[in-house]
Amino acid sequence: MTEKPLKLAVVGATGSVGRAVLEDLEAREIKVELRLLATSRSEVDLLEFRGDELEVETVSDRSFRGCDAAILAVPAAAARELAPKAWAEGCLAIDLSGAFRSTDGVPLVVVGVNDADVASGETRGVVAAPSGPVVPLALALAPIHREASIQRIVATILFAASGSGRAGVRQLEKEMVALLNGEEPDPSDLSHRVGLNLVPQVGAFGPAGITDQEAAVGVELRRLLSAPGLAATATAIRVPVFYAHGLVVNLRTARAISADAARAVLRAAPGLKVIDAPGERVYPMPMLAVNDDAVLVGRVREDASQENGLDLFVVADNLRRGAAGNAVRIAETWVRTRRT
Ligand SMILES: NC(=O)c1ccc[n+]([C@@H]2O[C@H](COP(=O)([O-])OP(=O)(O)OC[C@H]3O[C@@H](n4cnc5c(N)ncnc54)[C@H](OP(=O)(O)O)[C@@H]3O)[C@@H](O)[C@H]2O)c1
Repeated sequence: MTEKPLKLAVVGATGSVGRAVLEDLEAREIKVELRLLATSRSEVDLLEFRGDELEVETVSDRSFRGCDAAILAVPAAAARELAPKAWAEGCLAIDLSGAFRSTDGVPLVVVGVNDADVASGETRGVVAAPSGPVVPLALALAPIHREASIQRIVATILFAASGSGRAGVRQLEKEMVALLNGEEPDPSDLSHRVGLNLVPQVGAFGPAGITDQEAAVGVELRRLLSAPGLAATATAIRVPVFYAHGLVVNLRTARAISADAARAVLRAAPGLKVIDAPGERVYPMPMLAVNDDAVLVGRVREDASQENGLDLFVVADNLRRGAAGNAVRIAETWVRTRRT
């Protein structure tokens, strides 16, 4: 980290991702000056950080003055409104909401995959972060892609409740309490009960019967991996897990890569933990990924049903690694770029 502290605004600090940003800064001991922001309606006034209680301020036009970067962990409408205000103060907006993911001139970045693209954030004053599941997917696939050139991906996303923020966690809590008391829970805001269930819908369906969350996988991976010809299909399923998304991944590569060789490149890649001794019942699971900064990869095996096929299972904490960790790393990369 640079000697000077990172001057960081966190908008949506009281939310699931915002709190994970604070955890990431604490865990990685990042030198930081923080400004914590939320709405005037927020139920939370103070947040704990490194043993101190920090005030949560109401976001305003002046909130970004003097900041290097602002993490916008807020709904898309708020991000659209706030990003230009941040840039007007010379503060880079890091958008997690998806509001800018397809805006011309806005780079889409996973640090560890395409770090150099952060610099082009200065075109619009915004860097976009990909959707939650794509961050661990890109981190796990980039080393294999460099080695063997991935041609096609089939992914099943096992989407944790916290992927829908505080509302998703509260809803699953309520449902589990009701179900364990032998009652049918109240109808969910998420339309179907997730507790003791699987719901094959995350996001809104498009005309081809594909949700926006599923469509994002191919679109975002092609950009992040600089692989315009990459074919991808995904199915996203809400599962009754509070934290950490799971990704069941099947690949076809242009060049053959054995399971052993794939494990070797994954082990050598920073930010990944290969947990892969299935005979000893050692493999990635959400309970192992919670609060971990690493992306866990295991069940790596050759897929005999096709030429150059590979299967793997990837798990990462969607808040800590998927959203917050990537956003903070974008801010660090931006500051490093500007100060050198
Ligand atoms: N959850 C994930 O795994 C994940 C992953 C990737 C990206 N994201 C994206 O990150 C964003 C935040 O998600 P989350 O899961 O943290 O949601 P959340 O738990 O519902 O938190 C939302 C936060 O946004 C704040 N907020 C809402 N409207 C605002 C406004 N107009 N101005 C300023 N602050 C406002 C809320 O503050 P109050 O306390 O004032 O209500 C709260 O702090 C969303 O766009 C989401 O799509 C989430």
